[in-house]
Amino acid sequence: MITVVLGLQWGDEGKGKIVDALSPDFDLVARFQGGPNAGHTLVFNGEKHVLHTIPSGIFGESKQNLIGHGVVLDPITFAREVQKLDQTGLDFDSRLFLAQKVHLILPTHRLLDAASEASKGRQKIGSTLKGIGPAYMDKTGRNGLRIGDVQLPGFKQRYEELRDKHLQLLKLYEVQVDFRLEEEEAKWFDSLEVLQRFQTVDSVYFLKEKLHQGKSILAEGAQGAMLDIDFGTYPFVTSSNTATAGVCTGLGVPPQTIKQVIGISKAYCTRVGGGPFPTELEDETGERLRRAGGEFGATTGRPRRCGWIDLPALQYAVNFSGTTQLTLTKIDVLNDFEEIKVATAYRYQGKMTEHLPFDLSAIPVEPVYESFPGWKQSLDGCEAFEDLPADCCRFIRFVEEKLAVPVRLISTGADRTKLIRR
Ligand code: GDP
Ligand code: IMO
Ligand code: MG
Repeated sequence: MITVVLGLQWGDEGKGKIVDALSPDFDLVARFQGGPNAGHTLVFNGEKHVLHTIPSGIFGESKQNLIGHGVVLDPITFAREVQKLDQTGLDFDSRLFLAQKVHLILPTHRLLDAASEASKGRQKIGSTLKGIGPAYMDKTGRNGLRIGDVQLPGFKQRYEELRDKHLQLLKLYEVQVDFRLEEEEAKWFDSLEVLQRFQTVDSVYFLKEKLHQGKSILAEGAQGAMLDIDFGTYPFVTSSNTATAGVCTGLGVPPQTIKQVIGISKAYCTRVGGGPFPTELEDETGERLRRAGGEFGATTGRPRRCGWIDLPALQYAVNFSGTTQLTLTKIDVLNDFEEIKVATAYRYQGKMTEHLPFDLSAIPVEPVYESFPGWKQSLDGCEAFEDLPADCCRFIRFVEEKLAVPVRLISTGADRTKLIRR
């Protein structure tokens, strides 16, 4: 059966940490969407590892890992990731599988991403500029190149045709993007060789067999529910279905094989890039959260926007992702706060509502908060829910009661061992 782990906010909820910590309970970890826009951080034995395309189960020595066909893969960033893992001495060649139908990000996809963003001026999405949007556009536009195509006759020609089309499209933009295309192309073709180290599979047969054998599968999401192309704060979203629907299409598994959906939220909220963020704190408190939480992007290094936890947005995400249990991360970041706020509703066009309006940007909502006393102490040594300070337990209970989904995991630090199961 399949357990899904996904973010319920705007990304960076701590998915990498949770997937790594849970992976001993699973036979296989599979990424189902997104690409190297993701940055998933794992911390263990005093070391930090950031994964972009490779699933966060890779450090579990006996685990198999699959990059599902819902992912878009940039051979260059993938090769870099492989090289970094090689340096750790990890043996993973026989444990990492690539779906044949994974779409490839071309160097010109990154160029198009940069040109599109630059042309948007103040309406910038704040893309990671990894070529995600243009690559998914070519996928749905039926022009894309897939991993399975690399070995087929005529691949080079197909590549060149698509590249030339991209170069034509670039002329539509008035902006100039600085880019050494020939150098990037050379790297890209070299990096395709690295893909050959790993087995490619048709994930439908591959996963059907695993499920038939009774293996347990953990589906690892990237980004977060509020960045979902259909349900998120469009157009300030990414280009894939980040929520549970993406598991079926991105791995090729039937919905009834999904048993659990673990939705992750920080104990507060962050967003990196543009777009509406109702509970954002553009003041000293926001700055304190950023500092205490080390809120700087794992992929781009950009400072993350910070604010209080937003229950209406979370409730929406819980609804469309079918979350069956919650994980609260970075609860330790609130240790020094005298007061902790929770948005429980919005004031919108003069009325109170717990629903997200159609567009959060055009007419902004004003969050309505409930306030909680902080616990003002370290959580070191807390190994069970009962060990947590009473005010911390009260905050957690309030969140789960409001969302009507139980909090089963509480993360109290970046290290993989800092996890309370309840
Ligand atoms: P992901 O994209 O969802 O995997 O999250 P990121 O790795 O981008 O960002 C989460 C950041 O918070 C990383 O630096 C993690 O090491 C760190 N982190 C994860 N869980 C916790 C936690 O419970 N407490 C603290 N203090 N840091 C955490
Ligand atoms: P993980 O998996 C946080 C954001 C970007 C931008 C928008 C579109 O680490 O949680 P894109 O590059 O997809 O065109 O960017 O989505 N974004 C993320 N924010 N975490 C991520 O991944 C993100 N991936 C994309 O900042 O606002
Ligand atoms: Mg991240």
